[in-house]
Amino acid sequence: MKRLLRVLDGEALDVPPVWLMRQAGRYLPEYRSVRARAGSFLDLCYTPELAEEVTLQPIRRFGFDAAIVFADILLVPHALGQELRFVEGEGPRLEPVPDVAALGRLKPADEIDEVLAPIYETVVRLARSLPDEVALIGFAGAPWTVATYMVAGRGTADQGPARAWMYRDPEGFARLIDLITQATIHYLGRQIEAGAEVVKLFDSWAGSLAPEMFARFAIEPARKIVAALRARHPAVPVIGFPRGAGAMYPEFAAATGVAAVALDSAVPLGWARKAMSPAGAAPGTPGVVLQGNLDPMLMVTGGAALTETAKTVVAAMRGAPHIFNLGHGITPDADPAHVEQLLRAVRG
Ligand code: CP3
Repeated sequence: MKRLLRVLDGEALDVPPVWLMRQAGRYLPEYRSVRARAGSFLDLCYTPELAEEVTLQPIRRFGFDAAIVFADILLVPHALGQELRFVEGEGPRLEPVPDVAALGRLKPADEIDEVLAPIYETVVRLARSLPDEVALIGFAGAPWTVATYMVAGRGTADQGPARAWMYRDPEGFARLIDLITQATIHYLGRQIEAGAEVVKLFDSWAGSLAPEMFARFAIEPARKIVAALRARHPAVPVIGFPRGAGAMYPEFAAATGVAAVALDSAVPLGWARKAMSPAGAAPGTPGVVLQGNLDPMLMVTGGAALTETAKTVVAAMRGAPHIFNLGHGITPDADPAHVEQLLRAVRG
């Protein structure tokens, strides 16, 4: 079995499998070259042969244990009929969905394939072209994080517009969350049918939710998505990433049924291991596999701090099922030589 899948099955390996969030991207010159050829970021996402190529680039260069299909979390709102563009140097821009009246402009959740079919085609191609030992990860944004972009029409520092709607009109906001939840179940199911062996749910802004709202808009949608996927694809593990969840991580892990949680860099691994890992949790407590959580800044700075911190992460998780990763995505200013240095530190 592939190393990533063995760990997701609960096995502790001496050398953890490694992959990096956003491992395909602008820090790689070969990505920038294909990106320039594609024209726009969206054209790159929707052109299967180019999306396949940029997915494979970091695998060829670094030999990671997993590939993550090249796409974006904002393709789901796009497929639901929301206008989307990526403005160079500024990030995504969408036609805002500010209130319940605007929901009428969106398509039903089961009509997204018209736009997303090229992503499934990319997955099919990758399932054929990846080296045998490399696992293929599909993904989607979690409903809360996707909603923050849909409501504001752009990235925001505090997710203010979505949080304001959520408090002013929780029932109306729940309808938006339900629509995204249904679309996400459909989208991830199709990725699995196309060949994804693992799926990951990115809740990048989960940390901006107060506990009651975290339960309702982060845990509950993730629980529904995991349950629906498990009913049809019981063997496919789900990795949840409620970034910034802090003290809510254990409840997320226990209540959603995910196979693994990805930890952001602020989470102490010793604590996470005791609170959540099958190798550390109290008897009778269901454990989840842990992924993470090196600070992505170290991929920019390198040096002794990178090697030492990477070894500390490995040591903290020794004996427990662990997937080595960063605590968030690698940034465009990262140095590819530091990725090689990281792999030497982790793999010895
Ligand atoms: O290699 C991989 O990880 C696979 C591809 C991937 C991308 N985005 C490609 C991308 C994945 C898994 C994502 C997830 C994603 N997208 C998230 C969740 C993870 C996280 O980082 O928190 C979020 C919040 C988005 C939304 C998004 N996409 C923003 C806000 C931006 C603009 C900001 C930026 O980094 O430029 C994007 C663009 C984007 N998605 C790029 C890439 C490689 C850069 C676009 C370019 O090449 O011009």
